[in-house]
Formats: sequence, C-alpha cells, structure tokens
Amino acid sequence: MWQVNSMDNFKVKIVPSNIYLKFCKESYLLDILQNHKIEISHSCGGMGTCGTCRVIVQSEVEKLPPRNEVEQEMAVDRGFSAEERLSCQLYVKEDLEIKIP
Ligand code: FES
Repeated sequence: MWQVNSMDNFKVKIVPSNIYLKFCKESYLLDILQNHKIEISHSCGGMGTCGTCRVIVQSEVEKLPPRNEVEQEMAVDRGFSAEERLSCQLYVKEDLEIKIP
C-alpha cells in the first residue's frame, strides 16, 4: 500500500507487512501512523505514560533523535532496548523502518 503525494519527503516502512507511509514534514511517529489510519494503541493519548504506542525500530537506531526525558524514564523503568521507542515521543526527521509489536 502506497500513500503517495508529490510533496512527500520522508517515508516510514512498517514490517513485516511492507506498508509504506509517506509524509512531507517532520512529525511525531504516532501522528504519522494515525494520519495514515494505522492501528496502534495509545491509551494515554500521547502523553508518554502508558507505553502502549511502543514500536520496534528496524532501521539505524543511532540516527534517531535521542529519547526525551519522558521516554527515557519509561525506557529505564521497563527495560526497553535501544530499538524500542515510544511512537508518541519519537519525532521523525528521516526515513524509518518499524515493526509494531
Ligand atoms: S501513547 Fe501512551 S506512551 Fe505513547
């Protein structure tokens, strides 16, 4: 499935379904997923307190923006690996490949 727009600059690939989401401006990953009608839990409404919006990043984790304070606190509490990120707190600035657990 391709969501195509000539102004698109970035894309998120969801594996293993190989769904590509294209978007034209930097955004939080949860917003991108919701704007493309991708089902993902987000019980706290994007406040970074529930952990239900967690995704597994399959692309180069070192290129991602660092965790903010809210996400870092949860990552430590729950023992997240470097690849586990909260989609509501992850600001996407470039192409990304993810898996939704
Ligand atoms: S929506 Fe609750 S932590 Fe992201």
